[in-house]
Amino acid sequence: MVESTKNATLTVDGQSFELPIYSPTAGPDVIDIRKLYASTGMFTFDPGFTSTAACESNITFIDGGKGELLHRGYPIDQLAAESHYLEVCYLLLYGELPSATELEDFESRVTKHTMVHEQMHNFFRGFRRDAHPMATMVGVVGAMSAFYHDSTDITDPWQREVAAIRMIAKLPTIAAMAYKYSIGQPFVYPRNDLDYAANFLHMCFAVPAENYEVNPILARAMDRIFTLHADHEQNASTSTVRLAGSSGANPFACIAAGIACLWGPAHGGANQACLEMLQEIGTVDRIPEFIARAKDKNDPFRLMGFGHRVYKNFDPRATVMKQSADEVLELLGVDDNPILQVAKELEKAALDDPYFAEKKLFPNVDFYSGIILEAMGFPTSMFTPIFALSRTVGWIAQWKEMIGDPALKIGRPRQLYTGETFRDYVDVEDR
Ligand code: ACO
Repeated sequence: MVESTKNATLTVDGQSFELPIYSPTAGPDVIDIRKLYASTGMFTFDPGFTSTAACESNITFIDGGKGELLHRGYPIDQLAAESHYLEVCYLLLYGELPSATELEDFESRVTKHTMVHEQMHNFFRGFRRDAHPMATMVGVVGAMSAFYHDSTDITDPWQREVAAIRMIAKLPTIAAMAYKYSIGQPFVYPRNDLDYAANFLHMCFAVPAENYEVNPILARAMDRIFTLHADHEQNASTSTVRLAGSSGANPFACIAAGIACLWGPAHGGANQACLEMLQEIGTVDRIPEFIARAKDKNDPFRLMGFGHRVYKNFDPRATVMKQSADEVLELLGVDDNPILQVAKELEKAALDDPYFAEKKLFPNVDFYSGIILEAMGFPTSMFTPIFALSRTVGWIAQWKEMIGDPALKIGRPRQLYTGETFRDYVDVEDR
């Protein structure tokens, strides 16, 4: 823990309390309120954690004002341009970029774990065919603790490591199986001669009846989507993973909790919601109607793929994703796609509108990722599973960091209670 350099003074009813302040290596100072309740008998109130640092971390840093995202100090645009997903996984998990031998060893460890236990195929078959792939993934990833008991002891560093590698390796297989199951096609086994992203495309789009050649440009775009989603500090799903893990739950259960949280349309579900919104808008002439709805206080509609809790200038992932979208659409010859036209015009209309400028609402990563994924042939229901498999490494890196933190305590927020106070039970005939 960093040393406190100064104090904040809190005065309540004329009585003063000193609260230590810590200065991070980057970002705002934090006031340590851990002893606040013991010394003042008061709680703080911060629903949505807009002003609360819930942990100390050295993995990822975001400067929302500057539009900067750093993994272990390295900016996301450099990583997306020059690195690749498995190298970024190594960086997130172990803190440094790997040497050539370390990278080779890591890639080989991940590659050797890509198959899932054969019994899992039967587990999948228990789901309805029309189940959303996210529903299947929450169930299957949670069930990994029933299939891989030899890596659930969180006190054993070796088991933690094996669980981490297993999840990074198997999540693409599980996501692809969830997809294949939902469209009634046979599961496709992983091919360890392909790289991580190419193998995922192969498991999603190959069929036993035909040869399937992975297009290297699409594989590179897929890898970039994985890289851009790899980690994002203490977002809702990561905080869910940490909270679940704080009780000592096994890593597979914690990641399943993260997947469940990610599913919501305000978080990872936004990429699906965004494309569905673009389809609903349908034609460029309907954009003003939807912009007006997004601005109407009495209408719950929001422009999906716009806005972010932390980024208030631009989302650096969206900048890279936009370039990638242009490349992929040109390659596939679909840059005149009507949905894309709606997306481009909607982006322009929103950026020119004072409402969005005043509220600092910009396209986020989900605005463009859905467009690329659709062009690649994925149905909208697969967008969030792809986000989930990409984010798994971030969740695990954060979970491992938390387990190793001597300050770890079970997460247990307090509340501002506004319900009834004590009252006696009344028999039903007297009510
Ligand atoms: N469309 C229209 N208005 C919006 C939007 C939007 N997409 N986002 C925020 N606003 C408005 C709100 O109505 C609010 O207005 P008010 O101040 O007049 O009440 C103001 O902007 C601030 O919004 P909050 O909801 O308070 O901001 P918060 O930080 O809590 O929410 C969030 C961020 C959830 C991402 C929000 O912008 C949103 O719902 N966006 C659409 C969903 C989306 O794209 N999510 C993906 C996020 S990125 C990711 O998870 C990878």
